[in-house]
Amino acid sequence: MRPFSNPARIAVHKDEEVYPYYAGFSRLFAEDAVKWATSGDREKLVLDPWNGSGTTTRIASQLGISSIGFDLNPVMVLVAKAEQLDPAEAPVLLPLASRIVKTVRKSSLQDAREPLNVLFDETTSKDIVALARSIWIHVVPGSLLKTRGKLLFTSDSIAPLAGIYFVALFNSTRRFLRSLATSNPTWLRMPSRAEEKIHVPRKQILDAFISEVRRIKVNIASRAPLDKSQVARLALADSRSLPLQAESVDAIVTSPPYCTRLDYGRATMPELLILESMGVANYGDARRQLMGAATAKKPTQKIPLGPTCEELLKGIKNHPSKASSTYYFQSHLAYFNDLASSITEIGRVLTPGGRMCMVAQDSYYKELHNDLPKIIIEIARNNGIAAIESFEYKKSKSMCGINKVSQVYRSVRTPIEMAILFSKE
Ligand SMILES: C[S@@+](CC[C@H](N)C(=O)[O-])C[C@H]1O[C@@H](n2cnc3c(N)ncnc32)[C@H](O)[C@@H]1O
Repeated sequence: MRPFSNPARIAVHKDEEVYPYYAGFSRLFAEDAVKWATSGDREKLVLDPWNGSGTTTRIASQLGISSIGFDLNPVMVLVAKAEQLDPAEAPVLLPLASRIVKTVRKSSLQDAREPLNVLFDETTSKDIVALARSIWIHVVPGSLLKTRGKLLFTSDSIAPLAGIYFVALFNSTRRFLRSLATSNPTWLRMPSRAEEKIHVPRKQILDAFISEVRRIKVNIASRAPLDKSQVARLALADSRSLPLQAESVDAIVTSPPYCTRLDYGRATMPELLILESMGVANYGDARRQLMGAATAKKPTQKIPLGPTCEELLKGIKNHPSKASSTYYFQSHLAYFNDLASSITEIGRVLTPGGRMCMVAQDSYYKELHNDLPKIIIEIARNNGIAAIESFEYKKSKSMCGINKVSQVYRSVRTPIEMAILFSKE
């Protein structure tokens, strides 16, 4: 029997969403998954170790279930925080946004290296950063104002308003970058000459920010209320070493980073550069650390990956095409090692009898089938987590399908997105 009632599309770019530049699973799907994983028991604790735009944690808060959402990309932690705003708080959004805009000071910083300069001209970069600083001053409590780094992404006292205003700034900044768009929506063209850098008058930057807050407010106001007794804990953390005690989580609803050379860091470059200007993130570091990064390091340790994965890796290593035996073999090996370390961590933190719903999509390397759902099932089995059922969802416009190289093979073999249900022995 199919345990879910909603045949929802999973990986869609959610144009009407708070942060539309990201594919995640739908709220309908997450609702079914969280209900199934917790058996509807509101006392249970749900984890999403790759929380992305925070759909799992949003739905858990809506259902009155405590949750934890981790992501290694600081941008996504802020997006997930924004998702935690209760509709009852929507009316404060615009008045506070006006105050943020009115108190923007012209940046006095004479920084020679302004990170946003790679995309915008100097004045525009400074104006965007000045707005970011004004947001910081208004949404971060006094005692935390001088703090930098991880606090922004861990302190509950500055969520979720901080998330909303940063996301409004991210979205409005994105709109100015349309002329740098490529056919791959996750990839912007870098201006090669100074004249190509984007210039936006200060007033336009501030107006765009306000209009984005207005759009988000409408979106949030139309949502189901949150159960405030159950707060989501959202933090910057690595799925390969979860900051949780053994057997401390009852249920997991998640979707791992895709294995199609999708560069999650590069996909959020403008946002990371804004945070870098604020001194709270570093684009290069974030990009290198995220799983599936093109800049993946050579893995140092060999973890059991299961027969399907070993077979695929052998196929890539022996493939006659250029760089298959070197770069592509190494980057796939690094991805699968990271995936296996993360699943080992999941096995450690899940309580015995705990349930997990994981969404994964297959892909192709050249003509070789990368059956990620099957690989995950085999790695999970090695970690005492048994697959009890899996089912396919309707194909959707996913981030994975964007990769042009893979599409040559995709035209004949449509990728399949699977929801896999597990239980820990
Ligand atoms: C497929 S997405 C998750 C989508 C999410 N289910 C949603 O609905 O938005 C995978 C996420 O994993 C994050 N990620 C990549 N490497 C990570 C790591 N080592 N630890 C934690 N998160 C990581 C990426 O930043 C990305 O947001």
